[in-house]
Amino acid sequence: MDYRTLGRSGLRVSATGLGCNNLGRSGTATEDQAGTDAVINAAIDAGITLFDSADIYGAEYGLSETRLGAALGSRRDEVVVATKYGHADFTSPPFTHWGAKGSRRYVRQAVEGSLTRLGTDRIDLYQLHTPDPITPIDEVLEALDELVKEGKVLYIGHSNFSGWQLAQADLVADMRGLTHFVSAQNEYSLLKRGAELELLPAAEEFGVGFLPYFPLYNGLFTGKFTRTERPSDTRIARQRPHLADEAPWDEIEAYQAFCDERGITMLEATFGWLLAQPAMSSVIAGATKPEQVRQNAAAATAWTPTDDDLALIDGWFPAPTL
Ligand SMILES: NC(=O)c1ccc[n+]([C@@H]2O[C@H](COP(=O)([O-])OP(=O)(O)OC[C@H]3O[C@@H](n4cnc5c(N)ncnc54)[C@H](OP(=O)(O)O)[C@@H]3O)[C@@H](O)[C@H]2O)c1
Repeated sequence: MDYRTLGRSGLRVSATGLGCNNLGRSGTATEDQAGTDAVINAAIDAGITLFDSADIYGAEYGLSETRLGAALGSRRDEVVVATKYGHADFTSPPFTHWGAKGSRRYVRQAVEGSLTRLGTDRIDLYQLHTPDPITPIDEVLEALDELVKEGKVLYIGHSNFSGWQLAQADLVADMRGLTHFVSAQNEYSLLKRGAELELLPAAEEFGVGFLPYFPLYNGLFTGKFTRTERPSDTRIARQRPHLADEAPWDEIEAYQAFCDERGITMLEATFGWLLAQPAMSSVIAGATKPEQVRQNAAAATAWTPTDDDLALIDGWFPAPTL
């Protein structure tokens, strides 16, 4: 396993992380605690240190965090626990009285719940899940800065911010002497490269580490799907068949041939491509089985693309243009 710093910070994370939105999710092998324990232990044993959850992940509010906390148990200090707040609609229970999702009032309640469910006295990386159009960014940062000063949170990050929002937050933190966001989490994969337009250049400029979500496009880039084969025991077959139905199969088949010529799997090529991108800190792929997490951990160091390789890949999955 390789380890990278999370943006301009002293926080080291494994190049392969584990996305935890499958924990406690109905219909998956990680729905129950035993399945979760198997994946978490396999991940730690394979050198993975970054575990990315959120208060809303799982079949019910908080379940992914509860499962993660129980699975880590006495191994909690070996890992970096990341979670998120502020995705949920602030007009529905249990948030009815919490107010705007970026507000001091909301985050004070959200953080206590996450700490309890995770069974820990501090969250290593606490992320605002989505931007809040109501709360001024000054208040978002002040409220998070208080949590850092109290030791409840060690580092802060954001998710689903645009490039200008990342820049604004960094400059406001500078002006006000507040804790800076050290990470950005946005959708990014071979088929969703929009972050390259504004977000990734801003992240690189401001020293913010990038954590791509849906990095395998929900599993499409693991090599187990073909134009005609859709394994039934998969999230894509169960919940999102349109992702495979609408995929550009001519290009994916050319990409598979490229992998075959180099003697690597599509999974290894996809990790290699992701980890070659600017500001990339950790590929937080989800996994439902121990063998998946072991393959994902090994893929972090399996292959490094050359400039010619990257140009070929751009030909099939082009970079976005304005
Ligand atoms: N910030 C946000 O708004 C946001 C939004 C979404 C997700 N996220 C984060 O991003 C993380 C990653 O996203 P994701 O898990 O949804 O999507 P993903 O990483 O693109 O795909 C993960 C899925 O691919 C399959 N898979 C993974 N490794 C495999 C392997 N080695 N071999 C075969 N299949 C494999 C598994 O599904 P099957 O076994 O079912 O095929 C797994 O659940 C999430 O867990 C979460 O932490 C954040």
